[in-house]
Amino acid sequence: MPRIGDPAPAFTAVTTQGDITFPADYAGKWVIFFSHPADFTPVCTSEFMTFASMQQEFAAYNTELVGLSVDGLYSHIAWLRTIKEKIAFRGMKDVEVTFPLIEDVSMRIAEMYGMIMPGEDSTKAVRAVFVIDPEGRIRTVIYYPLSLGRNFDELLRVIKALQTADHFSVATPADWRPGEPVIVPPAGSCGTAKERMDGHDDGVTCADWFFCTKEIPADAVEAAIRAKGTA
Ligand code: BEZ
Repeated sequence: MPRIGDPAPAFTAVTTQGDITFPADYAGKWVIFFSHPADFTPVCTSEFMTFASMQQEFAAYNTELVGLSVDGLYSHIAWLRTIKEKIAFRGMKDVEVTFPLIEDVSMRIAEMYGMIMPGEDSTKAVRAVFVIDPEGRIRTVIYYPLSLGRNFDELLRVIKALQTADHFSVATPADWRPGEPVIVPPAGSCGTAKERMDGHDDGVTCADWFFCTKEIPADAVEAAIRAKGTA
């Protein structure tokens, strides 16, 4: 099962947007690679409509979406057509899913990525999310069970936080959103710890030597990460 920091396992696949070679086709981009349990199911339908509605928002952060389930291509096509033609959800309707949805009837890719959790269901993928950076490295892994639809604001927050951490060499605290203080890496020497506590490290505020923050205005964060995702 791939872990954070590992290179994303490579594969070729058939999708609703043609064949893909993963992650090579996405070099230089961030990718949210996610699985869903089954086509023609309600929670998955609500998730696909939400993801599709936010696709441009993710693209603004250089982030592409790639879905997978262990259904076949024709099931995928029929389901996506049904979503567009018939389903309304939370103000969304006439929603066209234009990101690739991988067919994986053999479960080859789902097994490779640890998306099958037999204790939950041995014939369906759980709701897995892999965030992969422009170098093809796994940066975040999140799993949800079959019954629980994902929080898509959180997925966008994850993308923004990872890109902010990379660009500014900082970390982001609990529930961080752009514009809120970021965490400065802990002092690596007694000298730096003293400088920070004496207030000599510009722009850095310390509650204690190991807990230091600094302000990065929301517009500076957005300017850095909206133009291009940095890894
Ligand atoms: C759903 O997407 O609604 C769903 C899929 C598999 C099991 C339970 C719910």
